[in-house]
Amino acid sequence: MSARALRVLCISGPNLQLLGTREPEIYGTETLREIHARLRARGKELGVSVDARQTNHEGEILDWIAAARAKYQGLLLNAGALTHTSLALYDALRATALPCVEVHLSNPEAREAYRARSRVAAACVGKVSGFGGDSYVLGLEGLVKHLSARSREA
Ligand code: DQA
Repeated sequence: MSARALRVLCISGPNLQLLGTREPEIYGTETLREIHARLRARGKELGVSVDARQTNHEGEILDWIAAARAKYQGLLLNAGALTHTSLALYDALRATALPCVEVHLSNPEAREAYRARSRVAAACVGKVSGFGGDSYVLGLEGLVKHLSARSREA
C-alpha cells in the first residue's frame, strides 16, 4: 500500500473541546480546531488524509473505533480521562486491530497518581505525551512510519 492511500482517524475524548481555555497552564492555549488544522496540514505533507473528531461520549468513541476498520488504516487517540478508566476502549481497540497511537497533551505520568495508569496503552503501538498540540503531530508522524514499515514488510 502506498503512503498516499493512507487514511487516519484522530479521536479526542471528553473535555478536549475546551482546549484553549481549559487549564492553560497544563494544556496550553492552542484550541482543538487549531491542532486539527495542523494535523491535516502535516498529513498533507506526508500524503496521508486525516479525519479528526471530538466527543464527550464514551459510546460514540466505541462506535467510531468499531467502524474505523472499514475506512482507515490507523488511529490517533486522546481519550482524555477515559484513558485511565475505560476497559471498553481497550477492548474496542483490540477488536478493531488497527494500529493506534495514544496521545496526550500533558504528561499524565508526571501528574496525579491516578493518571499514571493507562487502560488503552496495551492496545496501542505507541504513545506520545507531554508536548501539547505537538503530541498529536508527533503521534501522526510515528503512526505513518509504523504503517509504512508494516506495508513494506507485507
Ligand atoms: C489528557 C490527560 C488526561 O489525564 C486528562 O484527563 C485529559 C487530557 C491530556 O491530553 O493530557 O483530559 O488526555
